[in-house]
This record gives sequence, structure tokens and C-alpha cells, in this order.
Amino acid sequence: MNSCVLVTGGAGYIGSHATLALLQAGHDVVVIDNLCNSSQESLARVSKIAGRTPKFLEGDIRESDFLRHVFSTHRIEAVVHFAGLKAVNDSLRQPLLYYHNNVNGTLQLCEAMSEAAVFRLVFSSSATVYGEGAQVPIREASPTGVPTNPYGRSKLMVEELLRDLAQSDARWRIAILRYFNPVGAHPSGLIGEDPNGIPNNLLPYISQVAIGKLKQLQIFGDDYPTPDGTGVRDYIHVQDLVNGHLKALAVIDRKPGLNVWNLGTGRGYSVLQMIRAFEEASGRSVSWQIAPRRGGDIAECWADPAKASAELGWEAQLGLSEMMADAWRWQSKNPRGYSSVSHGQHLANDADS
Ligand code: NAD
Ligand code: UD1
Repeated sequence: MNSCVLVTGGAGYIGSHATLALLQAGHDVVVIDNLCNSSQESLARVSKIAGRTPKFLEGDIRESDFLRHVFSTHRIEAVVHFAGLKAVNDSLRQPLLYYHNNVNGTLQLCEAMSEAAVFRLVFSSSATVYGEGAQVPIREASPTGVPTNPYGRSKLMVEELLRDLAQSDARWRIAILRYFNPVGAHPSGLIGEDPNGIPNNLLPYISQVAIGKLKQLQIFGDDYPTPDGTGVRDYIHVQDLVNGHLKALAVIDRKPGLNVWNLGTGRGYSVLQMIRAFEEASGRSVSWQIAPRRGGDIAECWADPAKASAELGWEAQLGLSEMMADAWRWQSKNPRGYSSVSHGQHLANDADS
């Protein structure tokens, strides 16, 4: 058995890009995913780009027997943990589902890791854990706040769980990566973000207006104290984001304990700037109108990425034009996302290994 990296949620948006990057960096990869928000087609396409296939096991991180099976049948050296639910509005309607999936799921995963003596973990956190009044650019040392929704609270709870775990046992090497706003897609246009139903996030919404699937973008507020009045965020290309994971995996090898790194570019763009950049990259016009502010939104949020630069040797390389061109390539080549292909068509589900 070769040693390998376990990717939870590896069929999803960021997980599929990370699986590809890990394969391309020479790792063997085992993906586990319950496909509740993804399609196995993403992994078929990852295999096509990489020329190598990750092993896929369909299952749920909340199932301890399933996890035990995964760890006992593979020599896993590290876990990159993406599996989780991420829709803020759904989390307000179904808080128990979110806590069960995100918090209990991570707890089950950590127990299974501990039992199997696997102590390297990279966790997907979010800038949402910072307090509302955090000063931009936001540093890792900024206090965490009180997230406004169960999704955000589940991320903060997991961070605290992991902090306790690292303090309890010096063998743990944990990277908490606080993502700012991941966007874009692999430059091949073969894998990308395939949101279920109407997108909540800005760029998938803009893309679907541009392709004609949605009529008009509502801009949530134009009276923020920002240069043009619309919200400002730190958008980061998903390719840069997953490279940060590879760097973090390498660094925690020699850096025990718990480490927190922001993954952002250090630059903020407003909603109106995003629309203009998208129109330029796609050659399509995007219809929009001003709507009231969205509850829970803040005026501006961008990272200070200096800690990741100093400690991981990582900096975002791709700018807004690449983010937009790649998002548009994915959207225009796959107007219905992965849904035109029946699931499991290309990749054998290796459930009996
Ligand atoms: P995604 O929904 O595309 O991917 C998550 C994957 O996890 C999906 O394939 C889903 O089927 C799987 N999954 C969910 N619950 C599971 C469970 N119990 N067992 C097994 N598999 C399960 O989301 P994404 O955008 O790729 O996000 C990945 C991670 O990054 C999530 O934890 C998310 O909270 C975090 N994150 C995302 C963003 C963002 O803007 N996309 C920002 C900050 C943090
Ligand atoms: C949102 C979530 C955050 C989550 C992150 C990634 C909220 C309040 N926050 O962050 O918890 O970690 O997504 O999944 O939901 N916008 C519009 N019209 C739209 C959509 C967005 O004007 O249809 C604006 C927003 O007001 C914001 C910016 O675009 O100013 C970015 O929004 P979005 O992509 O949803 O990300 P965040 O709000 O930063």
C-alpha cells in the first residue's frame, strides 16, 4: 500500500481542485464524499486532466464504521478536510443539520484519525469566523467574533475543537485555513463550481445571469462606507487557494501543533468592480439592480496574507482577470454544470476495497 492523502468532500468545488493538485504533485489520493452537494463526474474530469485517478469511496464522515473502514484499508498520511455544508441561509433553517454535519462530522473524523494514528489535518475554515468589527486587512491575530449564522458558528466551533485537540496531544499537526472568497475554476474549463439551485454567492450568480439562466443580479446595498457604496471582498482564485493547501500540508510536517493561516490575496474588490471585470472577460453584459442590504453582510473584508507568505511561502498569483476568464470558461462550457452527465458514468465506485 502506498501512503496517500485522504480528501474529505473531494467531489465538491474546492475539494475537486485540491484532489487534482494533489495528484499532479505526485500524491496518491483517496476521496470520501457522500455526494450530497456534488457529482462524481467532477472526479472523472479530475482523472482526465491529471491522467491519474483518485480512489473514490462514497460515504459519510458522520459514519464511524465507514471511517474506520477507510483508515484500516489505506495507509493514510494526512487528511485534507473539505466535507461540510456551506449554505448560510439553509443553516438558519436547519441548524441541527449544520451542527451535525460540520461539527459532529469533524469530531467523528478526528476520532477515526486518532484511532488510526494519523495526526496531520488541514481544515477548511472561513473568514466568517472573524468578528464583524475586524479591522481590514484582517490578520490571524484579530479576535474571532460571533458569527451571525449557524454555518459560521459551526466553523468557529470546529476551530475550537481542533485547538483543544492540539493542546491535548502533541502529535497533532493541524492547519486551519481561513478562506476569504474562493472563485474561478481550473483553466481547462472541465471542473468548477456547480451550485445547487439558485446560487447564494456573487460570482456564480453573475455567471448565471451572463449565460441567461438567471435574469438579473440584485446588488445587496449601495450605501456601504466603501468607495462605490457596494460591498468589498477579497476574491481568491481556487487554483491559488488549493496551492495554499499543498504548502500547508508540507509545512505542518515540520511544524507541530495548531496553525492558523489566512488564504486571501490582500486586495478587496467591490460588487460593481466584479461585474465590470466579468463583463470584460466574458464579453457579455450582466443586468443588475440595487436591492436592500442582505442581513448579516458587512461592508468590507479582506485579508492580510503576510503570515501565509512568511510561514508557508505562499502568495496568491492570479488576479481578477484570470478569476473571471476561468469562471466564464467553466460556465460557458458547462451551462448546466455537471448535470448533463449521469452520475458515476465515468468512474468506478471502488466501495469494496
Ligand atoms: P462543496 O459543497 O462544493 O463541497 C463540499 C463537499 O462535501 C461536497 O462534495 C459534499 O457532497 C461533501 N459533504 C458534505 N457533507 C458531507 C458528509 N457528511 N460526508 C461526506 N461528504 C460530505 O463546498 P466547497 O465550496 O467546495 O467548500 C469546501 C469546504 O470549504 C467546506 O467545508 C466549506 O464550508 C469551506 N469553505 C468554502 C467557502 C466557499 O466560498 N466555497 C468559503 C469558506 C470555507
Ligand atoms: C458568504 C457568506 C459567508 C461564507 C461565504 C462563502 C453571508 C452573509 N456570508 O460570504 O458566511 O463563508 O459566502 O460561502 O452569506 N452579493 C450581491 N448579490 C448577490 C450575492 C452577493 O450583491 O446576489 C454581494 C454581497 O452583499 C457581498 C458580495 O457580493 O458584498 C460577496 O457575497 P458572497 O459571494 O455571498 O460572499 P460573502 O458575503 O463574503
